Amino acid sequence: MKIPLVDLKAQYLSIKDEIDQAINKVINSSQFILGSEVDAFEKEMAGYFGARHAVGVASGTDALQLALLACGIKPGDEVITTPFTFIATAEAIAKCGAKPVFVDIDPKTYNIDPQKLEGFLERKSSYQSKSQSHVTAILPVHLYGQPADMDPITELSKRYNLNIIEDCAQALGAGYKGKKVGTLGHAGCLSFFPSKVLGAYGDGGMVVTNDAEIAEKVAMLRSHGSREKYYTLIHGFNSRLDEFQAAILRVKLRHLDNWIELRRQKAATYTKLLNRITGIQPPYVAPYSHHVFNYYTIRLNSNLQSKSQSQSKSQSIRDKLREHLNRKGIATAIYYPLSLHLQEIYKPLGYKLGDLPESEKAQAEVLSLPMYPELNNKQIEEITRTIKSYEQ
Ligand SMILES: Cc1ncc(COP(=O)(O)O)c(C=O)c1O
Repeated sequence: MKIPLVDLKAQYLSIKDEIDQAINKVINSSQFILGSEVDAFEKEMAGYFGARHAVGVASGTDALQLALLACGIKPGDEVITTPFTFIATAEAIAKCGAKPVFVDIDPKTYNIDPQKLEGFLERKSSYQSKSQSHVTAILPVHLYGQPADMDPITELSKRYNLNIIEDCAQALGAGYKGKKVGTLGHAGCLSFFPSKVLGAYGDGGMVVTNDAEIAEKVAMLRSHGSREKYYTLIHGFNSRLDEFQAAILRVKLRHLDNWIELRRQKAATYTKLLNRITGIQPPYVAPYSHHVFNYYTIRLNSNLQSKSQSQSKSQSIRDKLREHLNRKGIATAIYYPLSLHLQEIYKPLGYKLGDLPESEKAQAEVLSLPMYPELNNKQIEEITRTIKSYEQ
């Protein structure tokens, strides 16, 4: 691809000496599991978030599962989340033996819609007394790097006595009304998957929290349920953040705010150019939001005229534009092509097409364009010009 979706090599080259030194330091220390790098990184991340605790784990998926377990989510519980997210969100709920319950999204932000959430909880409590309700937590996702509207969600969590576990996998560094996401609920879950805003050179994740009990429970769960090695209190997992990854992430953390600023600048350039193209909706940025643009995701409405009328009618305009960009060497991605309530695996939950219409519409209309701090203005101009050339 002439312009990839992300360019991890370019980022590595810009900090090569620092990274190489950090990796060598770990090799020389021969401390490979839960050593001083993980410890230092946890402290630095807690400082970054202004949170009391940060516990490194093996992936963002594990961060979600361990945080849910640490919050006491158990088999038979229901956890409300968005259907428009990566499978890991719902998978983590299911892995605790709980049931994912999907509430539709706000079509502008793609995040869970607080009004629909309120309606759902009201309906649920009208036919079940509060003490009988099985809903024990809300798991909002801050999709693409934009926070969900957390004030009304928090208000509802208090009214219905629910835990809030935030999925910040795509939103590290994002802000809601001046506060960092991840610290707005009981626990915040981070992913260091390589393409994330703060990406490792492999898998990694973290739980941030102000609650000492949750932090301690996650720390136990990640290491076979032990507080002290070989003295097991509960069944846990082997889910530790790798020492190499922590060393790499410590280097990258020093550049994070600058990279986020660059992402925001690239997004502003894209939006200025795309605003002039009929049929393209650049991402909406909510007034409460400090968006970090892990992904720059546009939406295509049906006014966009296709040059190639001969193509199959069943293909959406989004898919045709995607093919056009692909032919010109520009990578794109669809996050996500199938809403979770329609996934095969969740058939037993009984959802059907039409149940969550905003999520279903979004799955056919969103398209993520190349986005990384090293993307330059010439490339953005080329991408937007190529989109424009398709319109005429
Ligand atoms: C919204 C969301 N949740 C959870 C995850 C899971 O993170 P990981 O891939 O680190 O397990 C991801 C990323 O892949 C994600 O995008």
